[in-house]
Amino acid sequence: MSRMSRCGDCDSLLDLRHREPIERGASLRELWSRRRQSDVPADVSGVWRFREIVLPGAEADAVNQQEGNTPLSLRPPIAVWAGVDALFVKHEGHNPTGSFKDRGMTVGVTQARRIGARAVACASTGNTSASLASYAAAAGIPALVLVQAGQVAAGKLAQALAYGAKTLLVRGDFDACLRLAREAADSLGVYLLNSVNPFRIEGQKTIVLEALEQLHWDPPDWIVFPAGNLGNTAAFGKVLAEAERLGLIHRMPRLAAIQAAGANPFARSFREGFARPHRVVADTLATAIRIGNPASFDRAVESIRRTNGVVTDVTDGEILEAKAVVDASGVGCEPASAASIAGARKLVSEGVIRRNDRVLAILTGHILKDPGLLLSYHQQIDPPPPRANRPVEIEPTLSEVERAMESVRSAP
Ligand code: F0G
Repeated sequence: MSRMSRCGDCDSLLDLRHREPIERGASLRELWSRRRQSDVPADVSGVWRFREIVLPGAEADAVNQQEGNTPLSLRPPIAVWAGVDALFVKHEGHNPTGSFKDRGMTVGVTQARRIGARAVACASTGNTSASLASYAAAAGIPALVLVQAGQVAAGKLAQALAYGAKTLLVRGDFDACLRLAREAADSLGVYLLNSVNPFRIEGQKTIVLEALEQLHWDPPDWIVFPAGNLGNTAAFGKVLAEAERLGLIHRMPRLAAIQAAGANPFARSFREGFARPHRVVADTLATAIRIGNPASFDRAVESIRRTNGVVTDVTDGEILEAKAVVDASGVGCEPASAASIAGARKLVSEGVIRRNDRVLAILTGHILKDPGLLLSYHQQIDPPPPRANRPVEIEPTLSEVERAMESVRSAP
């Protein structure tokens, strides 16, 4: 079994192909749905439940933390802000380590164990390192994570440390971290678990499968999601093609990949008809997607083409406003995730998404991943942003509580 993520001949990223499942269409959908009633660990996981097209045969000894099974809901305030009638949010922050990365990591670390890897490694903007650290600990395999010094949100760094990964704070950008992780994998024999690893992509396909199931296999018109290193873009296009081929869906949703304006190499390429890959010096407060040279460019292009998709970018100001709307609706998400919502709004304003289109937005990470940015937004920035919810410090008297209550009552 291969330890490599690239083809030795052409240097493209490797892709997994499984034997075609025996069931197709309605019977495959029913098989997956029946597993929801089971309490066997492989059936309880929202990744391994779909094992026929994830990694058949590996489920019995999977490193399984009951990942997936994340909620899909309609939140009217978010839809109103974005300008559409029906906007479903799928919240991947409900995974065991608080991001969608767990879906790929359960498969990747399972594969690491199958091949007897002596250690696993990744470069990360934060979430991959948190997820790898957790799954490696669960598997009893040492983990090495490389992150940008001073640029990782507090919740993510805290997780990597607490789950026990050897954590290297690299004085360089994400692209330098990834280059170093690849070199370490080649020369030190550790197993690389970035999304260039094809097993990770197989797990991430289940975000879309599970959402389609929750929508009773009536596909949305659009799937909108944040894009950084483009692993998800690759996974989503791949699984939609499979879903169509297996008769699970009869209409192809369009993908809308959203980047931060300060880290938008994929959006730049899209505007030129994908004539060439771009590379930028990345800068955005959505640190999860601060990536200037995405690794999965080629297969992400294929996904966008295959789904008649679009790629756009949104400013940090738009991301912050979207995040404040998502947070205040009671859902909450990390900054990069809010790019989905900001992107949906932008595409509606441009007439690309129509008001009556059904839109599925993926929230990729949990609100508590980046407490630093939240506290600064609500407590520290002067003058306060329009949606800031300033706390009020008081003396311990009822009259001060009463005064504070009056301002709540008079609020619009
Ligand atoms: N949203 C969040 C919360 C992320 O952590 C990431 C990527 C993305 C979106 C973008 O997904 O890379 O598949 O296009 N985070 C990686 C990491 C890079 O290291 O945690 P992508």
